[in-house]
Amino acid sequence: MRTEVAIIGGGPSGLLLSQLLNKAGVATVILERSSREHVLSRIRAGVLEWGTVQMLHEAGVSDRMEAEGDPHDGCYFTDDDLMVHVNFHELTGKRVMVYGQTEVTTDLYEAQDAMGTTIVHNVEDVVIQDPTTNAPYVEYTVNGERRRLDCAYVAGCDGFHGVSRKTIPEDKRKEFERVYPFGWLGVLSRTKPSHHELVYANSSNGFALASMRSQTLSRYYVQVPLTDKVDEWSDERFWTKLQSCLPADVAGSMETGPSIEKSIAPLRSFVNEPLRWGRLFLVGDSAHIVPPTGAKGLNLAASDVFYLYNALVDALKKGDETGIDGYSERALTRIWKAMRFSWQMTTMLHQFEGEDSFAGQMRKATLKHLSQSETARRDLAENYIGLPY
Ligand code: FAD
Ligand code: PHB
Repeated sequence: MRTEVAIIGGGPSGLLLSQLLNKAGVATVILERSSREHVLSRIRAGVLEWGTVQMLHEAGVSDRMEAEGDPHDGCYFTDDDLMVHVNFHELTGKRVMVYGQTEVTTDLYEAQDAMGTTIVHNVEDVVIQDPTTNAPYVEYTVNGERRRLDCAYVAGCDGFHGVSRKTIPEDKRKEFERVYPFGWLGVLSRTKPSHHELVYANSSNGFALASMRSQTLSRYYVQVPLTDKVDEWSDERFWTKLQSCLPADVAGSMETGPSIEKSIAPLRSFVNEPLRWGRLFLVGDSAHIVPPTGAKGLNLAASDVFYLYNALVDALKKGDETGIDGYSERALTRIWKAMRFSWQMTTMLHQFEGEDSFAGQMRKATLKHLSQSETARRDLAENYIGLPY
């Protein structure tokens, strides 16, 4: 098989890149390790920055999001004493969109099917060959048969555990990492959300987040030690813990019910530099991971796609390689700013095991300052709704 851009990974990064490239007349083939059902069953991001929303419009996959997504003007930050509203719309003129990653991915798969893009599922042993030459190719196995895909460029959209990043020799790249000493236990339940906007709570019982997917589907998280296992958390234990972390009126009005998904995600900040090796480009989680506290992971994947899509169209349609030469530096500038924001939000909202008595006071003072300073709220809002591309 031959294509212009070989895309490794059919998650949100790979699908969005493919959709935009195909719309611009660039041919792609997506190689995905899992089945479509598996990709669509992963409950992950819930909040889209306005820039991501605009890109989904540009990609022609916004109809259902416009009909079913829920634009939010702001969100809340609390501790045991305070509840602070940050009104993004008043402070920046922009909103965020509550629309689940599974929905975005469903819409993208449908649009790709309508365009007739080749998506090969259940591929194994993907190897990216000769990325530093003008004739790279990808080898993979499907149904027990070894195959070859020739291409002009390779986009590594295969997430943190994929092969693309590791294809770059260790002495040609650098990793920056911080692993946090806790995870998030997440529960999805068919219940009415306990609050009309998201509530991020830093309580003396630990961190909790009240989020949602729709008016009938809630998504909640609590901070747990990394050693905890999901099966140690009955639904009852989860609801009790969650309610103990949220302000009394939010906890009091909470509808509880059986969980329909429950999982633990470790928290990590990670960046790989650079994002390019010859004709191979890293996009999204294959190159960087943020802790979910700032809701930035999927949105950063979307901004990487924005830069790379424009760069590849210029290279393939106009023979102009300025964009691909600048891709890594341009994307990394925005990535590091989102890293900083996600790290700061994580530090501001979580209890760290074994921390000194000073740490909790710093978190309290940060929230107090947020409640009293419009400048502090504007800074948070500007980062939360997404820095410009
Ligand atoms: P992935 O979603 O990881 O997709 C990579 C794809 O590549 C997968 O389908 C995988 O099967 C495939 N693959 C892997 N290896 C190979 C291989 N060798 N060959 C072929 N295919 C391969 N982000 C936000 O912006 N907002 C949020 O509110 C938010 N909340 C989150 C909550 C949780 C609990 C978690 C875990 C994450 C959250 N995120 C959030 C982060 C967001 O989900 C990720 O950043 C996003 O999924 C990245 O997309 P991606 O396509 O780059 O990578
Ligand atoms: C979610 O709804 O899953 C969600 C929302 C905001 C975050 C993280 C996760 O910061």
